[in-house]
Amino acid sequence: MDFIPVNRPMLNGSEKQYVLAALDSGWISSDGPFVEEFEKKFSRRVNRKFGIAVSSGSAALDIAVKALGIGQDQEVIMPTFTIVSCALAVIRNGAKPVFVDCYQDTWNMNIEEIESKITSRTVAIMPVHIYGLPVDMNPLIKIAEKYNLAIIEDAAEAHGQTYFEKPCGSFGELSTFSFYANKHITTGEGGMIVTDDYELAEKCKKLRNLCFEPEKRFIHFEIGWNYRLTNLQAAVGLAQLESLDDNIIRKKLLGQKYQDLLADNPFLQTPISQKSGYENHYWVFGLILKPDYGKTAKMVMENLYREGIGTRPFFWPMHKQPILNEFFHSSYPVSEMISEFGFYLPSGVGTTDSEIEIVVDRLKKVLN
Ligand SMILES: Cc1ncc(COP(=O)(O)O)c(C=O)c1O
Repeated sequence: MDFIPVNRPMLNGSEKQYVLAALDSGWISSDGPFVEEFEKKFSRRVNRKFGIAVSSGSAALDIAVKALGIGQDQEVIMPTFTIVSCALAVIRNGAKPVFVDCYQDTWNMNIEEIESKITSRTVAIMPVHIYGLPVDMNPLIKIAEKYNLAIIEDAAEAHGQTYFEKPCGSFGELSTFSFYANKHITTGEGGMIVTDDYELAEKCKKLRNLCFEPEKRFIHFEIGWNYRLTNLQAAVGLAQLESLDDNIIRKKLLGQKYQDLLADNPFLQTPISQKSGYENHYWVFGLILKPDYGKTAKMVMENLYREGIGTRPFFWPMHKQPILNEFFHSSYPVSEMISEFGFYLPSGVGTTDSEIEIVVDRLKKVLN
C-alpha cells in the first residue's frame, strides 16, 4: 500500500533552470541576484513596496517584532491558536504575548475579544491567517487605529490569499510569510518580511544580517541574527512565484473536492469554503471531529496512518504550552476544543485527485 503523505510540493516549473543558473554563476550564498529579484517580485505580488527575504517564517517574525522596537514591559495581542513562532518572537524580544481565543467556524482569532485584552502596555496586534481563511481584518484595523497599535500580520500560510480583494500580507506595518515546503509556494525553508516603510525595511535588512554596520563592518551597536536566505533558495522561490496562481487554483480545486466528498458526513466539521469578502484557499484541509463522535483527533490520525494516510494535528494552543505555562492560566475553550479534535488531511499542491479519493475512502472506513 503506497503511503499518501500529508504534503507533496510541486517543483515542475523553472526551479531546476534557475538553481542551475545560480550554481553556474557561483553565487550560492545570500549575495546573489536571485535574492533581490525574488524580494522585488514577491513584494510586488502582495502589493508592498519592500521585501526582505529571510531564512524562515519564524525568523521573519523575530525580526518584525524587533524592528518595531517592541520589548521589555510591552504586550502583543495574538491568537492562542497559532504556531509557537508567533509567541516566541515576542518573548525572545523581551515582551509578553497576550492571547485571544478563536472562532469556532473560521479558526481565526476572535476579534471581539481583542479590546478587553488591551492595557497600557499593549503596543501591537498580531493577526495570523489560519489554514486558508483570512482574519477578519476590517474590524481589527479599526481597533488598531483606535488604540494606536501596530499590526504585525503573520501571512505565513496566506500567499496569494485576499480579503475584500486586498492581498494578505498588505495589512501590517510589517507582514511576514513562510516558504516552508508545505506552503502554496516554497523555497524548502525560507521566509519574507514585506512593508511599505523604507526605514523599517532597512532596519529589517540590518537585523537579518547580524547588524553589520556599513562603515565599521565588524563593530556592532545592535543585536541581530544571521537569518539570510541563500541565492539557491531564492532561485527556487522565484520559479515557485511563477506558479503561484496555478497553485492557488489547484489548492482550491483540491479543497472543493474534499468538501464534495465529505459533505454531510455526520462525524465531521469541514472548513468554511467562503464568507463575505473572501474564499478559502485551503492552505490545508482541516477537519474537526464532532464532540459526540467520541474519539480524539489523535486516535483517528493513528488509524489513518495504519491505512497509509499522512495527517497532521491542529496547532496546540499557546496558553497550554509547557514552555509558556508560567505565564498563562486562562482558558480558551474554542481553541482547546479544536486542538483536541482537529487534524488535517493530505493537501499538497502535488496531491492528486485520485489520492484524495483514496484518502476519503479510508477516512470513512476509519470513522465508521
Ligand atoms: C502561521 C505561521 N506562522 C509562522 C510559521 C513559521 O514558519 P517557518 O516554518 O518557515 O519558520 C508557520 C509555519 O508553518 C505558520 O503556519
